[in-house]
Amino acid sequence: MEKDTLAIRTQLERTQYLEHSTPLFLTSSFVFEDSEDMRSSFTEEKVRNIYSRFSNPNVSEFVDKIALLEEAEDGVAFATGMAAIYNTLVSFLNAGDHVVSASSIFGSTHTLFTKYLPKWNITTTYFDINAPETIAEKIKENTKILFVETPTNPGVDVIDIRYLAQIANQYNLLLIIDNTFATPFIQNPIPLGAHLVIHSATKLIDGQGRVLGGVTVGASELIREIYLFSRNTGPTLAPFNAWILSKSLETLSLRVEKQSNNALLIAQFLEKNKNVLQVKYPFLPSHPQYNIAKSQMQFGGNVIAFELKGGKEAGKKFIDTVEMFSISANLGDTRTIVTHPATSTHSKLNATELKDANLSEGLIRISIGLENIKDIINVLQKHL
Ligand SMILES: Cc1ncc(COP(=O)(O)O)c(C=O)c1O
Repeated sequence: MEKDTLAIRTQLERTQYLEHSTPLFLTSSFVFEDSEDMRSSFTEEKVRNIYSRFSNPNVSEFVDKIALLEEAEDGVAFATGMAAIYNTLVSFLNAGDHVVSASSIFGSTHTLFTKYLPKWNITTTYFDINAPETIAEKIKENTKILFVETPTNPGVDVIDIRYLAQIANQYNLLLIIDNTFATPFIQNPIPLGAHLVIHSATKLIDGQGRVLGGVTVGASELIREIYLFSRNTGPTLAPFNAWILSKSLETLSLRVEKQSNNALLIAQFLEKNKNVLQVKYPFLPSHPQYNIAKSQMQFGGNVIAFELKGGKEAGKKFIDTVEMFSISANLGDTRTIVTHPATSTHSKLNATELKDANLSEGLIRISIGLENIKDIINVLQKHL
C-alpha cells in the first residue's frame, strides 16, 4: 500500500462493537484471567497490554503508523518531542560519553546538550551545519552519537543525510535525525542511512495545535533499549493524545502537500520584496543546500525563515503589527504562525551561540498554515 493509504488504513482490530473509527482506550491498566496469565505477561512470553505506562492500544496504533511511514521496524511514543529526544539520547549514553551535533538545533535540545547532559559528564561538540566536512575532526574516541535536525528550527538549514550516514558508519556512531520539520511525508531518513528518527508530533503531525507528543522510530533492537528505559521512567504518551495524533495522520499527506506548496509561493513572494534582506526556504534555488534538499525531500516544508531590513527593531515591529497570523511558539498548525526566535524559542542562547546557530537577531520564522494563500499574501504585502 502507498503511505497515504497506510496512514489512513492502519488501525487496531475492531472490538465486538464493530466500530469504524478506533475507540479511545482511556484505561490506566488491563486485567488478567488468572495468575498464570499475569506471570506470562510480565515475563513477556505473551505480548499484551499490562499497564498504560508500558503500552496502550491507542499509543500502539500511533507508533505502528509512524514506523510504517518512516520505513522503520518499530517505535516508542512520548508525551512530547523533548521527551523523545531526551529519552532516546540517555538510553544510549553513559557518563563520560560525547555527542557531535550541529549547532543549529531547536532551543531546548541545545539547552539539553549544553546545560543538562554535562551534569553526567556527557559533553557535546557542535559543528556548523553548513560545513559538514568539519564533522570528522570533532569526533573523539568517546563519541557515541551524531545528532542533527534537518531542516533545522528555526533557520531551515538542510544537511545531507546520506553523507552523515557514511560518517556515522565509518566511526561507529548512532545517527539520530530530528525529522520534525519534514514529517514522514517529506523525508524518510532511515532508508537514507539514519539509525533513529525522532518527531515532535506536536508540530505538523497533530497539525491543528491541540496536543503534544513525540515519537522515536528505528531498528527493533535500538527501540527495545529506549522502550525499556522509558517504560521504567514514565515519559509516556497519553492515550487521548495518541488517539488525536493517529487521526491527524490520516490527513497529514494532504496538509503537508498544500502547506508546502503555499510556502514555496510565499517564499518566492518574500524573495522579491524590497524590505526583505534574505529568505531561507529549502526549495528556493537560493538556499545554500538547495540541491541536497531536492535530493532528499519531497516538498520544501511549511516553514520559511526570513530577515527584514532593519534587523531586530524591524522584526519586532513586524510581529507587533501583523494581522491575522498567530504570534505563537508552535509551528505546523493550520493557522499561519509568526515567531521571533531571538526573543522566544532561542532566548536562552547568548549572542555568540545565536551566531553559531546561524541565527540573526532579526530573523522571523513563519509557519505557513492552510488559510487561503491570497489572504496570507495580502497580510504580508500590507505589513512588509
Ligand atoms: C525540531 C524540533 N524538535 C523538537 C521539538 C520539541 O518538541 P515538543 O515541543 O513536542 O517537546 C521542537 C519544538 O518546537 C522542534 O521544533
